[in-house]
Amino acid sequence: MPRRHSLRAATGALALLLTAACSGGSSASPASSDSSGDTDRPRPGARGVGDTLFPGLGNGGYDVSHYGLDLDYVPDGNHLRGTARISARTTRALSSLNLDLAGLRVRAATVDGRPAAVRRSGTELTLTPARALAARHAFTATVAYEGTPRTLTGEDGSEEGWIETEDGSAALGEPSGSMTWFPGNHHPSDKAAYDIAVTVPEGFTAVAGGEPRARRNHDGRTTFRWHSAEPMASYLATVAVGTFAVHRGEAGGVPYRVAVDPAQKRDAARVPADVARVTAWQERVFGPYPFSSTGAVVDDLPGLDYALETQTRPYFGEAPDTLLLEHELAHQYFGDSVTPRRWKDIWLNEGFATYSEWLWEEDHGGRSAQRIFQDHYDGGDDQSPGIWAFPPGSPPSAAHLLDPPVYGRGAMVLHQVRRAVGDATFFPLLRAWVREHRHGNADTEQFIALCERRSGKDLGSLFDTWLYGEGKPDLP
Ligand code: TRP
Ligand code: ZN
Repeated sequence: MPRRHSLRAATGALALLLTAACSGGSSASPASSDSSGDTDRPRPGARGVGDTLFPGLGNGGYDVSHYGLDLDYVPDGNHLRGTARISARTTRALSSLNLDLAGLRVRAATVDGRPAAVRRSGTELTLTPARALAARHAFTATVAYEGTPRTLTGEDGSEEGWIETEDGSAALGEPSGSMTWFPGNHHPSDKAAYDIAVTVPEGFTAVAGGEPRARRNHDGRTTFRWHSAEPMASYLATVAVGTFAVHRGEAGGVPYRVAVDPAQKRDAARVPADVARVTAWQERVFGPYPFSSTGAVVDDLPGLDYALETQTRPYFGEAPDTLLLEHELAHQYFGDSVTPRRWKDIWLNEGFATYSEWLWEEDHGGRSAQRIFQDHYDGGDDQSPGIWAFPPGSPPSAAHLLDPPVYGRGAMVLHQVRRAVGDATFFPLLRAWVREHRHGNADTEQFIALCERRSGKDLGSLFDTWLYGEGKPDLP
């Protein structure tokens, strides 16, 4: 599990920032209204995708296919200078388009190679090209920016965004921190491929997700390049700068890279072998590992009280135990490859990754999943406090997105499904979920439909009770 000791939510300042992002003008229009009406008459792009929990996140009217990020980072003074090259396609004619960006100074922007006018308001960055963009038109926008990237801090002290570490920095993006280090369509529904180049002073290492490309030294600086071909939601993009020893090997037929901060050397000694062991087990249970590489970043940021499932390279502020590593690697299937279409579907990430821990424990000489379920129900599991606060299928607000109900009670939903359909249906069903939505987006309704289709059962009351019911349900 993600947060071992205290379970907290990103709230307060962050919620305020996000609210500010969508105030002052037309409120966010849902993606659906974006495609209705006249798609050929150029209008401004929407400033949100219509996410009920995060109205300011993402933008309407276009779809990104690739981000080319060229970053120059100086740890001393925490200075970032970047160029984002965004390849996208309009979904309707656009007179202007929005990107999400928090802080930083925009130096210049272009659309299709020509200068575009730049406006900023809260976390909305508006680019107005000299000429409107036609509907279904492939275009490239570039944004050159620089400054001191900020960390977003929730009222409970949980931090995301660009975070300074002892010897460098780390970028953590769930749910909205990626807007602190590059402009983009920062909503999980718009996944894209990435190429990230990071130039740092010689002696520093920059690690990101995906596979490395040729490294270059020049004038006392080193450029690290990372390529992610498979689609990635922007909250799963990361860059970690610091001093790292990189351990390499094979896990389930793909290469792994485990980057370890020297301060964590001893505690992280087991991590590379654990990555291989966990991946082999997960492939048996969930099917083929979904990406072309795996690994981990074990940094030295012990104040961070959560880990993050950054794509192909989960991020840890200190050496993880096997169960936490298992949770973050399970997210590679549940969250990273199969990504929620809306933030309210977050239990598809956390409930599943938590249930994966239960299955791991059951399979490795610990409690049975039934026992863990019962311990949660009785309140005897150390992860059980707070799980009845709200139904996992409908987090009440952004402040509660990552609260205990989506983890523990989310896992309980899956256990109830397993009991209702039986193991012979349940495990193939999990693999079908992973296979059918590989590298895509999915929502809760699709999961329920899959369960009913595969089992031939009406599971309406099960989901009404365990996923959507207020309070603690009676046991069946
Ligand atoms: N998704 C992370 C996990 O479960 C946890 C997490 C990421 C988180 N960002 C957060 C928790 C911000 C609270 C606040 O592994
Ligand atoms: Zn998780």
